[in-house]
Amino acid sequence: MLFNVISAVCLSLWVSSCVVNSAEDLYMTRALKLMSETPLIDGHNDLPWQLRKQFNNELNKVDLHTLNSTHTNIKKIKDGRLGAQFWSAYVPCETQYKDAVRQTLEQIDVVHRMCQKYPDDFMFATSSDDINNAFKMNKTASLIGVEGGHSIDSSLGTLRTMYHLGVRYLTLTHSCNTPWADNWLVDSGSEPSEHNGLSPFGKQLVVEMNRLGMLIDLAHVTVAGMNQVLDMSKAPVIFSHSSAYTICPHKRNVPDDVLRRVKEKRGIVMVNFYNDYVTCSKIAKISDVADHFDHIKKVGGADIVGFGGDYDGVTRLPEGLEDVSKVPNVVAELLRRNWTDVEVKAALGNNLLRVLSEAEKVRDDLKDTEPDDVPIPYDEVKNTCRTSYGYQISESGAIRPLSSVALVLTLILQAAVMLTA
Ligand SMILES: *[C@@H]1O[C@H](CO)[C@@H](O)[C@H](O)[C@H]1NC(C)=O
Ligand SMILES: *[C@@H]1O[C@H](CO)[C@@H](O)[C@H](O)[C@H]1NC(C)=O
Ligand SMILES: *[C@@H]1O[C@H](CO)[C@@H](O)[C@H](O)[C@H]1NC(C)=O
Ligand SMILES: [Zn+2]
Repeated sequence: MLFNVISAVCLSLWVSSCVVNSAEDLYMTRALKLMSETPLIDGHNDLPWQLRKQFNNELNKVDLHTLNSTHTNIKKIKDGRLGAQFWSAYVPCETQYKDAVRQTLEQIDVVHRMCQKYPDDFMFATSSDDINNAFKMNKTASLIGVEGGHSIDSSLGTLRTMYHLGVRYLTLTHSCNTPWADNWLVDSGSEPSEHNGLSPFGKQLVVEMNRLGMLIDLAHVTVAGMNQVLDMSKAPVIFSHSSAYTICPHKRNVPDDVLRRVKEKRGIVMVNFYNDYVTCSKIAKISDVADHFDHIKKVGGADIVGFGGDYDGVTRLPEGLEDVSKVPNVVAELLRRNWTDVEVKAALGNNLLRVLSEAEKVRDDLKDTEPDDVPIPYDEVKNTCRTSYGYQISESGAIRPLSSVALVLTLILQAAVMLTA
């Protein structure tokens, strides 16, 4: 009798777990099928920063197939079906006014070298067509996003040069103000506003990015800055790695009124998996991440949501999403929540492809517009590591004390020359 009860319990446990398992398997099977048809395009991955931190960018000493001190390696990429990645060319705010531009160029270089070293796995990409072509060849399209306006040192020439090197988005700030934009810490109250969003030069930059066809990334900026860009930009904007503020009220996340404006602009919010932005706590689960997808879909529609895991840029990730191989788990969870195939494919890659191709069309429409060559006013960027070559400094200009010294020295020298002549 006891034996019968036990076997009945065992049988029912076995049957129910069997039913659950097969349902799970069906969602995962469908997830992997959709991912074989539409590329998963992720908005933000900090593997290049890990390469600097762990190896000082000595890629020759690294095997990206077996590297196991990161969330990302080639095996994990294949298991995760990563179709395209915006690799982050990130350098910390500590480099601002110092060697930010050099360090950023080195991060761009290491992404190019990754693609050269592993040509069977990565294809360097700069366009929506490139992403589709790489996907057909079973390679991960590798794009570059520069994270933080400090990386261009307030220079449109540097912005354009980075575009030529393949950079396809610029996050207007990281976690520091630039001479022309405020960062999200201003909204958290821990830093004062300097520009109430964007300065006039910041607005010039937005116009120039539209002309170039470089995506404007509003992750890390203030809500005021988000709204100013949404007012101005001719192209759709992106949030490369931000989640929904209503689900977790962290100032790095996107509030509902901005989500609605992103929808009007046909832009995209790529969901960040960092526990602290997902649950506003140290722990999170796959379903917590899916809650952000559901909320963004509810407010702005499935056409504005995407993936922006922030792998290798964060220290805490949800249970079941520990590295890039696990991303199909989110896709299966969305299917379990009755997302349609069309909605899932939009989130996987079609939304980003739309945004990028619309930015390319804006660029093509503006091809007869001259580059903006008006530099930032010198007194907005004056610091001890910056010279003023090229600027016509007026007598009342900000570097007057220096030029007075130079003038006196010149007079003394001239007097000396006249005396010795
Ligand atoms: C990680 O890689 C290192 C170096 O290749 C190796 O010594 C170590 O055993 C690996 N660890 C794991 C957990 O695979
Ligand atoms: C890509 O992979 C799929 C599935 O493994 C295979 O059928 C296809 O032939 C591959 N395509 C190329 C260009 O290697
Ligand atoms: C999904 O749809 C089914 C069938 O219409 C329904 O029974 C179920 O409650 C839905 N699930 C969710 C999470 O909405
Ligand atoms: Zn970031």
